[in-house]
Amino acid sequence: MPIISLMNQKGGVGKTTTTINLAAQSAIKNRTLMVDVDNQANLTKQFLSEEPEKTVEELFHGRYLEPIEIKKNLFLLPSSLELTGIENKIADKISREFFLKKALKKYQEEFDNIFIDCPPNVNLVTINALTASDHIICPIIADAFSVEGIEGMISVCSLLKEQVNPDLNILGIVVTQYDERLSISKHILKDLEDRGWADDIFKTKVRVNTAIRQGQYYRKDIFQYDRKSHGAMDYAKLGQEVMKRINNYQKL
Ligand SMILES: Nc1ncnc2c1ncn2[C@@H]1O[C@H](COP(=O)(O)OP(=O)(O)OP(=O)(O)O)[C@@H](O)[C@H]1O
Ligand SMILES: [Mg+2]
Repeated sequence: MPIISLMNQKGGVGKTTTTINLAAQSAIKNRTLMVDVDNQANLTKQFLSEEPEKTVEELFHGRYLEPIEIKKNLFLLPSSLELTGIENKIADKISREFFLKKALKKYQEEFDNIFIDCPPNVNLVTINALTASDHIICPIIADAFSVEGIEGMISVCSLLKEQVNPDLNILGIVVTQYDERLSISKHILKDLEDRGWADDIFKTKVRVNTAIRQGQYYRKDIFQYDRKSHGAMDYAKLGQEVMKRINNYQKL
């Protein structure tokens, strides 16, 4: 079943928040796995109050890691700061880009949707995530540096598509922390459209919403924290748009 990476080498754009809430939305009906491959482990800390005993590092050594059950239908393969050393350990191995792809095959049989939360840089772990993925979703904030960020991401994806993962699909770009009162937000959207990305941008923009931040503080996804908030409405709509795009893509 599809593996979807949340990726943008720019920091703080909403990769982890979008992973949490798309996964929570998916888990309402489907068995869903979240994979944290960021050594900052923000996704993991959202769900676990203590350091995990074992992390996704296991997968890079070819070992199985038991997913941690968060709630009904929602599971996590956690990360920790210890993942920092993994790049050096696999750097000179043959097929070093393919460890995660190989390991996730087993989980694909068990789960309907798998979401990978990537770190804010393009290291060997990120390359493993993109090599394992069917789809990439790129969260951006409508600010002045986002356009460069997307161009960087698209060139990384094109290179990966050419060399290691011809099936990789950029599912779309999602604008997060959107503030429609700011004229800059509209200018930047227009700029993205002028560059030919109009079709890639998801119709749903995730608005700036304090409930999202508060919910994270209390370790709750937005649907648990305040299902009537703008954040919950936006992520519910985004989740539907994401699944529709995936289904349409599979039919092609
Ligand atoms: N729609 C939103 N409204 C308000 N705050 C938000 C929203 N989306 C994300 N945030 C906040 O913005 C911050 C950055 O978000 P997040 O951690 O998801 O980004 P990231 O891309 O995963 O960052 P990193 O690159 O460091 O991994 C967090 O404090 C998060 O709570
Ligand atoms: Mg993050």
